[in-house]
Amino acid sequence: MQVSPAPCSAWLTDGAADASPHGLQADGVLPGGPLPGGTANRGLVIRVGETVIRPTAPCRHATHALLAHLSVVGFDGAPRVLAVSAATEMLTYIGGQAAVPPLPVDTLTDAALVSVAELLRRYHLAAASFDPAGYRWPRPIPARFRTGLVSHNDVHPANLVFRDGRAVALIDFDLAGPGSAAWDFAAAARSWAPLQDDQDIADSRQGRALERFRIFVQASGLTRAERRHVAEMVIANHDWTYAIVTEAATAGHQGFADHWRSVAEPAARARHWCQRHQRDLLAAAR
Ligand SMILES: Nc1ncnc2c1ncn2[C@@H]1O[C@H](COP(=O)(O)OP(=O)(O)OP(=O)(O)O)[C@@H](O)[C@H]1O
Ligand SMILES: [Mg+2]
Repeated sequence: MQVSPAPCSAWLTDGAADASPHGLQADGVLPGGPLPGGTANRGLVIRVGETVIRPTAPCRHATHALLAHLSVVGFDGAPRVLAVSAATEMLTYIGGQAAVPPLPVDTLTDAALVSVAELLRRYHLAAASFDPAGYRWPRPIPARFRTGLVSHNDVHPANLVFRDGRAVALIDFDLAGPGSAAWDFAAAARSWAPLQDDQDIADSRQGRALERFRIFVQASGLTRAERRHVAEMVIANHDWTYAIVTEAATAGHQGFADHWRSVAEPAARARHWCQRHQRDLLAAAR
């Protein structure tokens, strides 16, 4: 997420499109178009052939250093930065299906859930050798939940790409920063179990939140103490995430304002659900 959209049409006017390894179609039109799934950059993330052009976030130097590191260590579950202009970045397009609502049924299975855990494990392993010192990072997560690892910090469905019912990549690293593996698992669990009131779950996951939470954290590769932290972090993670949404909405960001209007009530119910089930979550994480 970021709260200050910038025009990515700059690529098409500042000559940067010439730097693309992918040329124009025979009719002179760049293949692709706006991609669905963004809130912070709604309508501003554009596919151009095998690339994606999107606004850069304020902490882009840190984000790009992280993405470069992931590339060097051979992690294939994140986009590569191909070029950067004044206000936009050109990334590799990751083929597959981002989990944009309505969620495809093959992203709702327990196997898909486990694949999200495995992708996060691989990402955390790759990020573990990245040194965040010397960079300016976005909004920090609460200090008590930081271990020094640079976590993704925005693991919601539309920031995951699936292929054949398996999560293959994380996208949108705009909120990445010093955090912890457990913080990412808490965020992902909220939207993938999902940790919500049953009246807000209209698919095959209804009635299975605690069971799926258990499956997810048991597939995390985290220690028992870390799994406990995941359960303990869920409400703080909820509050941290929705503070970003509400602050941006209040500041007049239309995408976040529209998003908040549609999720405010279910989000309040989800928070209440997590409070009511705190002990059950701790038990499932054992
Ligand atoms: N590198 C990529 N490869 C494939 N699809 C992508 C890529 N980057 C973005 N997308 C698609 O574009 C959508 C929006 O992109 P992105 O997540 O960058 O937008 P955003 O507005 O910053 O998101 P958020 O609301 O999570 O902050 C994604 O949900 C996904 O469908
Ligand atoms: Mg996104």
